[in-house]
Order: sequence, then C-alpha cells, then structure tokens
Amino acid sequence: MIPKHIAIIMDGNGRWAEARGLPKVMGHKQGVESVRRIVKACLNAEVKYLTLYAFSTENWARPDHEVKALFQLLENFIDTEFKLFHDKGIRFCVIGERHKIQKDVLKKIENLEKDTLRYNNLTVNIALSYGARQEILNAAKKLAEEVKDGKLKSQEIDENIFSERLYTAGQPDPDLLIRTSGEMRVSNFLLWQISYAEFYVTETLWPDFDENELNKAIEEYNKRDRRFGGR
Ligand code: IPE
Ligand code: IPE
Ligand code: MG
Repeated sequence: MIPKHIAIIMDGNGRWAEARGLPKVMGHKQGVESVRRIVKACLNAEVKYLTLYAFSTENWARPDHEVKALFQLLENFIDTEFKLFHDKGIRFCVIGERHKIQKDVLKKIENLEKDTLRYNNLTVNIALSYGARQEILNAAKKLAEEVKDGKLKSQEIDENIFSERLYTAGQPDPDLLIRTSGEMRVSNFLLWQISYAEFYVTETLWPDFDENELNKAIEEYNKRDRRFGGR
C-alpha cells in the first residue's frame, strides 16, 4: 500500500555542509534539490499529499543571514518550479504563520496557491513559520470566537470540527512521518495530525535523501501493523 499522505521533517542540511567544510547555506541549497526529487518521486509513487517541514516557528532564532537565505531559496524554488506544478497538476500550499512572512515572498506563495488550487494529482504542503502548538492554539481561539458569536455550541465541538480549524483542513492525516538525520523527536511538527502516523527515522541527511530512500521508507511502512488501538 502506498501511504496517502507522507510528512517529512527535512533535517540535516547543516551537518551535510559541515561534513564537506562548506557553509551551512550550501546544505540548504542542496536540500532544495532533494525537495525537487521527492516531489517527483511522490508523484511517481502516487502519493496524494506530501507535507514538508521547511521552517519552524523556532527557526526564527537562527542567524539573520541563514533565515534570509532560506526564504530566498524558497522564492527561487517557486520561480523555477511553478512550471512543474502546472505541468504535473500539483497543488501548492503553505501552512504556518503567514503574517510573519515577508510581503513579496508571501505574494509569490499566494499566487502559486491560487493558480494550483484545482490540481489534485498531488498536494504539496510546505510548513513555513510552522509550529504545531501555535496551530492548535489558533484553532482553539477560532472555536472560542465562533462559540462567543453564537455560530457554534461548545458541546458540538468534536475532532472533525477541530481539525477543520487547522491549517490542514480538508486533508487526511499523515500515514507516514519521516525524519532524516537520525533525531528521534517531532520538533513541534503536526502534533494533532500525527496521532496515528507511522514514524520512520533514517540516518540519511536530507540533502542525500532520494527516491530510493523514499521507497525504502514506504517499504518499511508496509511492514508495520497499524492496529489503531483496536486489537
Ligand atoms: C534542516 O537542516 C533545515 C532547517 C531546519 C531549516 P538543519 O539546518 O537543521 O541541519 P542540522 O540539523 O544543523 O544538520
Ligand atoms: C526541525 O528541524 C525543523 C525543520 C526541519 C524545518 P530543527 O533542526 O530545527 O529541529 P531540532 O532543533 O533538531 O529540534
Ligand atoms: Mg536540524
């Protein structure tokens, strides 16, 4: 079985660069090549949703030049890959705190989102200035407002209604969560959505991650017995 939704914590760009005596930003640059490869690989494998952790709410604490470089790489990615999204019918989506993103970058993001809205071969979510706790808090605040305005009764709030207030509204939860470069933690990623995802950690650094590595993760996923607590 092919997982319908794969989420990836793309970690290890810094270590990849360090091992080669290169500046960290070169690791991020190489990381973008992996993103290109994996988007195409997911398309080939008929995965329907791919969520990539590109920048966390905590990553704002990194040096200014690194933050700038990361957003510049994203801008370049949109400029060079918009054709791929159109040609292959891929929907582009950003999840995270939009108000913190620089205006001109946000404009590019929102244009591509609008232009690819109707595509459904694959949906690519880029988690940008994303934090799961912040996302959950946001949903709680929205619900509180709706109850206050009389649009909803508090006893009507269930898991579905809650999910619909998250950035991933309308999308299925990830089946498989991959983290590259060996760290065994979730780093504030999709806390609500991964409650029953299968977790796969590989020592491979993100810039080295390719179609072959992705297929290995899918193979491993297929060996798992997903019991959902039911037996
Ligand atoms: C992941 O690579 C990319 C981002 C978090 C933006 P890192 O920059 O965290 O790489 P390591 O963990 O230092 O190797
Ligand atoms: C998680 O990686 C965030 C992204 C991949 C964007 P980090 O490198 O920031 O996470 P920690 O510091 O190892 O938890
Ligand atoms: Mg890291």
